[in-house]
Amino acid sequence: MDQVTVLRAAKLREEINYHNYRYHTLDSPLISDAQFDALVDELRALEIAHPELITPDSPTQRIGGAPAEGFAKVEHPAPILSLDKASSRAELLAWHTRISKLLSEDVPPLAYTVEPKFDGLTVVLHYRQGQLVLGATRGDGLVGEDITANLRTVKTLPLRIPVDPDGPQPPPYLVVRGEVLILLKDFDALNTRLIEAGESPFANPRNAAAGSLRQLDPAITARRPLHLYAYSIVTADGPVPETQQETLAYLRALGFAQPDEIAFFQGGAGDRRLDAVADYCEQMIARRNTLPYEADGLVIKIDDLATQAALGVVGGRPRGAVAYKFPAQEATTTLVDVEFSVGRTGVITPTALLDPVPIAGVTVSRASLHNFDFIAERDIRIGDRVLVKRAGDVIPYVEGPVVDVRDGSQRIIEPPGVCPACGDPIVHPEGEIAYYCINAACPAQLVQKLTYFTHVLDIEGLGERTAVQLVEQRLVEDPADLYFLTKEALLMLEGFADKKADNLLNAIAQAKDRPFDRVLAALGIRGVGVTVAQVLAEAFPTLGALAEAPAEVIASVEGIGPITAQNILTWFAHVHNRAMVEKLRQAGLKLAAESKAVVVGEQPLADLTFVITGALSRPRDDVKAWIASLGGKVAGSVSQKTSYLVVGADPGGSKYNRAQELNTPLLTEEQLYALAGSHP
Ligand code: IVH
Repeated sequence: MDQVTVLRAAKLREEINYHNYRYHTLDSPLISDAQFDALVDELRALEIAHPELITPDSPTQRIGGAPAEGFAKVEHPAPILSLDKASSRAELLAWHTRISKLLSEDVPPLAYTVEPKFDGLTVVLHYRQGQLVLGATRGDGLVGEDITANLRTVKTLPLRIPVDPDGPQPPPYLVVRGEVLILLKDFDALNTRLIEAGESPFANPRNAAAGSLRQLDPAITARRPLHLYAYSIVTADGPVPETQQETLAYLRALGFAQPDEIAFFQGGAGDRRLDAVADYCEQMIARRNTLPYEADGLVIKIDDLATQAALGVVGGRPRGAVAYKFPAQEATTTLVDVEFSVGRTGVITPTALLDPVPIAGVTVSRASLHNFDFIAERDIRIGDRVLVKRAGDVIPYVEGPVVDVRDGSQRIIEPPGVCPACGDPIVHPEGEIAYYCINAACPAQLVQKLTYFTHVLDIEGLGERTAVQLVEQRLVEDPADLYFLTKEALLMLEGFADKKADNLLNAIAQAKDRPFDRVLAALGIRGVGVTVAQVLAEAFPTLGALAEAPAEVIASVEGIGPITAQNILTWFAHVHNRAMVEKLRQAGLKLAAESKAVVVGEQPLADLTFVITGALSRPRDDVKAWIASLGGKVAGSVSQKTSYLVVGADPGGSKYNRAQELNTPLLTEEQLYALAGSHP
């Protein structure tokens, strides 16, 4: 293998890891998804041709390797300690008094760092020469389990540090401690996806993260939206920061994600009081339900790590830090009844109706029961005293019954025999958790289908109330009928006057130009949400092609499972659904992806500056003229202004090296043509 290929693979790895970090950790991508995919495709092609190029830090290795038999035990290089708790301001001040007595008089005023106490799973990450070599669970604090294969799939976990080539060089051996969790927004999306695929949703983000990390099959972990926050250095064989605040900044510079909610309190002159810290903690308690992750408290750390260490450890808990626990967001109350509602795919969802109870300032009278398996597993009954929890902004859920106080009057919760909305029999498919109403004309389903359709296609002014009216008045039988609504019909609905009817018709008409993948998502096929639809639209550029494809072909697309493939087939087999597609076609919606061909006069390379090095397959002057005709510029040397260095055969060293220094993205000749959508 030639040196250029080796270098190119190394450069691709570095770039992909960096862009991955820009996207997932910093939330500030520098290149488009298509450009990112092109880099990954190129690296994958190189690795397929030369498997010896695959390194453990290659981004292609994030997909998860072979399933493990079990997890090997790993001894931690230093004990992974837990924390002492304080549950009130008074207890926090008492902690402070205790440690103050232990410190000698000449210690300067204490500074503190206050961090969220993430409610996830502790992990210990070992890096050698900047490469992730081992990732372990906390276990009992001395010995954990080797879950490296699963951790590799976590997108915000750097496989190589520093992620940004301009970042600090870590010591040869560095062990970092952090917490793996699922952000609340991702948790909602994950559960929606699981429900749509007929699988059981998770009760809360922590369970979801725990279940995902301890998967024996890393391919499953890879599909879970896990996130890492790193907060301390367990050990290192070189110099590392001496304060907690600097440690966090250092970890950030290496490429580890950090939450926004980190506070630093300078030690006031001669004043070791903790009042400002306690005030901050109280503010954070008030805001806890607005945090983007679940936290069960705050961790207050003496900022100076030498002082922390000097204070020592009692009972496995360091004296130099303390967890200020948030008050529990839970209460017990009586489960009075269960309500069944019908979702857009016909899934029957049980909701607990509760004797109203205040939880952290909010009166809770309804709570999620997830599904009938959950009810049976926890043996939750009507009339039970139940423990209800709130977490983050998610809907409160029933955790379980208080069995001791049962008096015999409690009744078992059975799935309904008929649909609460249309009265048709309920179906429970073999091997599935969900119970369904399969009546295609069920009004409750139709209302949900309509609101989902308008939500995905971003049609304003059509909420649940209007959807109910349209269904009740039989103005629509499926979402496609929206496009054939007339003003006269709308004016018959209560609350609709001239302006409101016009606005709604306009909004519906405007949504005709939504891209194909959105239209595909809006159809409401089980398991085909916005993200899956994007993947499908790439593989099947027309709806017809997808409708005709056999299940195996659909399931062979990366990211699409056999259940979703089957759901797609079943959906298209239904005569009502085919009729709906026909109506959408008549209405002029986009049922095919936009062609990527370049329209004459279009300037796909506008605002881009290219530098070319090495020999191309066509005369360089032709390529230069062609770039210019598409709006791009060609410069003679690499600078900050260069968008891309185009690398041909036998590239010259100076341009290439300069591009490396400046982190300038590289393109092969083919990639340049792919970017432009044409060639000279
Ligand atoms: S510091 C000696 N900081 O909470 C340092 N822990 O009992 C001790 N946790 O499972 C840990 N967020 O892993 C620290 N910002 C944070 C944390 C945090 C969550 C976990 C920790 C442990 C538990 C403490």
